[in-house]
Amino acid sequence: MTYHIVPMTADHVPEVAAIERQCFPDPWSERMLREHLANECSAALVAEGEDGSVLGYAGVLVVLDEGYITNVAVRPAYRRQGIAKELLGVFHRFAAANRLSFLTLEVRDSNAAARALYASLGYQEAGRRRNYYEHPREDAVIMTMTFPDAGDTGEGEDSAPRETGRGL
Ligand SMILES: CC(C)(COP(=O)(O)OP(=O)(O)OC[C@H]1O[C@@H](n2cnc3c(N)ncnc32)[C@H](O)[C@@H]1OP(=O)(O)O)[C@@H](O)C(=O)NCCC(=O)NCCS
Repeated sequence: MTYHIVPMTADHVPEVAAIERQCFPDPWSERMLREHLANECSAALVAEGEDGSVLGYAGVLVVLDEGYITNVAVRPAYRRQGIAKELLGVFHRFAAANRLSFLTLEVRDSNAAARALYASLGYQEAGRRRNYYEHPREDAVIMTMTFPDAGDTGEGEDSAPRETGRGL
């Protein structure tokens, strides 16, 4: 299967919102997705199929040297083909290149597929938020990938917080 990872644009929003409705009980609306795109500290990617349709997408929010994965979803027919791994891989390379301290996310306790995905990529369980989700009510497991060299600025380097939210 051929697909390309490209930055999400306003043109992708209706299809991404449809994937949200397909995948989540409390989906992001088109308005929320547009707000995410408009936020200069956020970035989002889509996997586009050969015909230009959206197969999956992922978003991240960067605050100083902290990265928060906001959403990852792949259309059911295109799962287990490495799309989520590819999407997150772009964020991981961005995080390493920009010396973020960590990438983190919340996932439903019962979401075995997503937990297996994050574990396979090296995320570790870092805690739990009790009753974080509704429909149904459920704990969130916090999963985090740390970038241990982030604090090592090296001799003579500027250790001021870096500009974030751009360059993906
Ligand atoms: C979770 C999700 C994004 C994974 O997307 P995907 O493109 O199918 O994942 P990938 O193909 O990149 O999987 C990479 C690895 O993750 C693990 N993994 C992914 N889905 C899995 C599943 N259903 N069961 C077990 N392991 C799984 C495997 O290790 C897999 O590697 P492998 O296929 O070589 O064994 C997808 O199932 C989805 O959209 N779910 C609904 C939305 C959702 O729950 N999003 C996460 C919110 S926190």
